[in-house]
Amino acid sequence: MDELTPTTAFRIADLAARQDEAVRIAEKKAVDRQHAKGKLTARERIGLLLDPGSFVELDQFARHRCSEFGMAATRPYGDGVVTGHGTVDGRPVCVFSQDFTVFGGSMGEVSGEKVLKVMDLAMNLGCPVVGINDSGGARIQEGVVSLAYYAELGRRTAHASGVIPQISMIMGPCAGGAVYAPAITDFTVMVDGTSHMFVTGPDVVHAVTGERVTAQELGGAAVHSEVAGNAHHRAAGEHDAIAWVQTLLGYLPANNLDPAPEYADDTSPVLTPADLELDRLVPDAPNRTYDMTELIARLVDDGEFTEVHSAFAANMICAFGRVQGRTVGVVANQPRHQAGVLDIDASEKAARFVRFCDAFSIPLLTLADVPGYLPGTGQERGGIIRRGAKLIYAYSEATVPKVTVVVRKAYGGGYAVMGSKHLGADVTLAWPTAEIAVMGAEGAVEVLHRRKLAALPPERRAAARRRLTDEYRERHTGPYLAAERGYIDQVVTPSQTRLHVARALRTLRTKRQTLPARKHGNIPL
Ligand code: HXC
Repeated sequence: MDELTPTTAFRIADLAARQDEAVRIAEKKAVDRQHAKGKLTARERIGLLLDPGSFVELDQFARHRCSEFGMAATRPYGDGVVTGHGTVDGRPVCVFSQDFTVFGGSMGEVSGEKVLKVMDLAMNLGCPVVGINDSGGARIQEGVVSLAYYAELGRRTAHASGVIPQISMIMGPCAGGAVYAPAITDFTVMVDGTSHMFVTGPDVVHAVTGERVTAQELGGAAVHSEVAGNAHHRAAGEHDAIAWVQTLLGYLPANNLDPAPEYADDTSPVLTPADLELDRLVPDAPNRTYDMTELIARLVDDGEFTEVHSAFAANMICAFGRVQGRTVGVVANQPRHQAGVLDIDASEKAARFVRFCDAFSIPLLTLADVPGYLPGTGQERGGIIRRGAKLIYAYSEATVPKVTVVVRKAYGGGYAVMGSKHLGADVTLAWPTAEIAVMGAEGAVEVLHRRKLAALPPERRAAARRRLTDEYRERHTGPYLAAERGYIDQVVTPSQTRLHVARALRTLRTKRQTLPARKHGNIPL
């Protein structure tokens, strides 16, 4: 052997030295910089997300090829993003995690290749992909090449939509066009105080509009989870964000062809004390409210469910739970917020959730208590017609099992839209407290009997209005006219709802429905 040829021992030691540089030495620097900002490192995040020891890293030695701006002098391994796969609760997940301590986590050609490669892997394996974002966006030094990779990422994300679940974690900055790939993913979680997302940052806002605003005010977790609706969960810290994603993944199938994970069914086949409490859930007075989550908790296994978008459009609840061990998507009006009225935000929130569930074969359980659509110029000018139509569209094209329970109000468009028989619900149940009509009794009497009431002497008007209102309520707003026509399959005692819903979902397990073949529909966007 030529004595200049490195020995095997040398080559192994060389590999160890490179691994040391790529991981241990880089991580030491990253820990100091990230922890000082109250953030975890890219590797720590992956370590917490995945099952211990399950992470298989890819492209650890990838390095950028850019020579502009003196970049050739600094070529760290990994190029600012850690990618690979592992398991969460034993189930495969692909992950990429941007490393802000390397070129600000910015994406250039090589880091872009790494992210696209792991996304392709997720598509080939048919497993969810979690993107952990902590980045200054497109790498400025690499110019248009960086932009190309962001656009490619957008395209990959769009093509993976509805095929594999995609989850974005925003753990630092996410600015400019970089926000759009997360926006296309199914769920986005942000961390309070240390993450932000915006298309144009505070400096640009000030330069263009004169407005002074902080990064948090412009695009912090509170803004996106409560006002803009871009974040589905606002986490108190990074551990909370990771735990939420792990819980979410537990409800989801790996892809659009596999079923969601199934758990043992240890639910009671007979009425329980919790079921009986439902007979007292709806207050006697129509203007008194109650908490719809009380009902959800009594219908799903162990009372456990996970809301998405809990702080956005709180008049509508979208949540994952399980019925007899199988995942369901719950869509419910929340009478505690704005009386559960339908508005633009609630419609869009629910529509996107319905479409997600349909794409991944998750049955839908709809709980209706809706006084109708929110009136006003704000809603009309904001596009409630176009944007509210999304919910009708989403329910209509959803071919998964659909079970609806009308709990109390189902007035006007609200009746039609909240998973009605007419939009394809397979099983429609109503409580005896259901009020199904074009509008509430007071409003209807005002429209139908305005002239008659005006003709009466003033002292007799109030009593006449009361009598007409009671009459209308009695004859026209119960569940029985709808039941007469088969729009409601069964009027059920509230306490028996869990058993009815479980039976319906069990029966519907074999449901197969296909819509006419087409390139794609044209949902009003
Ligand atoms: C290259 C970047 C970078 C970028 C940050 N860095 N962003 N390097 N390209 N886009 C580097 C910094 O030079 C610095 O390097 C290190 O990362 C940390 O950045 P700081 O500015 O010191 O950190 P901080 O004060 O926390 O501010 C973070 C920041 C800021 C808010 C993200 O860096 C920033 O505004 N960056 C530019 C954001 C931006 O406009 N990106 C382009 C968006 S457009 P050193 O060596 O000093 O540590 C886009 C298009 C996508 O992304 C197209 C989609 C279709």
